[in-house]
Amino acid sequence: MDAIALKRGADAPEILEKPRPEPDSGEALVRTLAVGVDGTDHEVIAGRHGNFPPGEDHLVLGHEAVGVVEDPNGTAFEAGDVVVPTVRRPLADGATEFFERGEPDMAPADEVAERGISGAHGFMSQYFTSPAEFLVPIPDGLAEWGFLVEPISISEKAVETARASRSAFEWRPESALVLGNGSLGLLTLATLGDSFERTYCLGRRDRPDATIDIVEELGATYVDSRETPVPEIPDAHEPMDFVYEATGYAPHAFETVSALAPNGVAALLGVPESWTFEVDGGRLHRELVMGNKALVGSVNSNYRHFEAAVETLSGLPDWLKDDLVTGVHDLSNFADAFADDETTIKTAVKFHNQ
Ligand code: NAP
Ligand code: BGC
Ligand code: ZN
Repeated sequence: MDAIALKRGADAPEILEKPRPEPDSGEALVRTLAVGVDGTDHEVIAGRHGNFPPGEDHLVLGHEAVGVVEDPNGTAFEAGDVVVPTVRRPLADGATEFFERGEPDMAPADEVAERGISGAHGFMSQYFTSPAEFLVPIPDGLAEWGFLVEPISISEKAVETARASRSAFEWRPESALVLGNGSLGLLTLATLGDSFERTYCLGRRDRPDATIDIVEELGATYVDSRETPVPEIPDAHEPMDFVYEATGYAPHAFETVSALAPNGVAALLGVPESWTFEVDGGRLHRELVMGNKALVGSVNSNYRHFEAAVETLSGLPDWLKDDLVTGVHDLSNFADAFADDETTIKTAVKFHNQ
């Protein structure tokens, strides 16, 4: 079968011929429908994040998959069930405690593998196998957009974690700001409109731009970071009750504290590399304390967040999915799915028809 993989030392993915996997006991064989691409895949390809599976000369990419059960292999699934796999797996010699709790997303990152990212092959192949417990069933009617479940699950967890940090008092948030107009930022912005009266999204693009069009179509206000740096947002617009950082631009993690309203919380999602810069630590400390503010980091998501994401996906309007997903490319044109330009928002590689 064909797989899209990154070879050690390469700076772009290629198609490799690999044997079709045989499911072990407790695993199902899945025929891949489509696999999405996100900023993390670009970071993996650039060598800035992730690891190859031990002893292997390549990493099969892809962690945002949807597929159809080809062979249930004695699991509770039936052939034809549409499923989305979760990402984290136990390491061969690693702790399983967080998996037993159903919270592998809370495990230390170096104690787990992430399929397609770190230490385990991903889902960008015509077939993949997975233990049944890591396959989330989704309605047949959502199969076309099923590759959006994993990224939405990331937001489900991050927003839940941020809200939990405000649960000790009566939090009445009205304003929310998403930092970043990439696919994660826009998907998240689309889900915040129901919970916040006013939403904003920060980018660094000139009009006309398809991401700015989506921001405005969602009823949010576009903020250009070149004109309005994050600390100036309260004066230019309003202090924010909630901030969702999805730029991966490290200064934003700290500048965000100044953008927050008293009692506000920011969820940090970006995974930047080491970067040394100046921060007024005293002011940061004071603002966090005197403003009862919180910063929460959030990575990955668990089965429950995937289930919530399926619900969220089913409520997204068709126009949004159509505008956000700028290309679903056949295997023969897979390189187009990895284009990194301003006309590309969310892409996927298609492996089979449903
Ligand atoms: P992406 O497509 O690269 O999106 C990042 C966006 O942020 C881009 O649109 C970029 O704008 C914008 N941006 C960067 N710096 C900016 C600045 N200084 N001012 C304004 N806008 C800026 O990536 P993504 O897939 O949406 O993911 C976003 C981040 O979340 C990445 O760092 C990714 O690694 C991380 N992530 C984390 C998790 C998790 O579990 N924590 C899950 C998924 C992704 P331009 O395109 O104009 O440059
Ligand atoms: C993936 C997560 C993963 C994170 C860190 C994200 O792009 O969606 O599942 O935990 O990267 O590697
Ligand atoms: Zn991702």
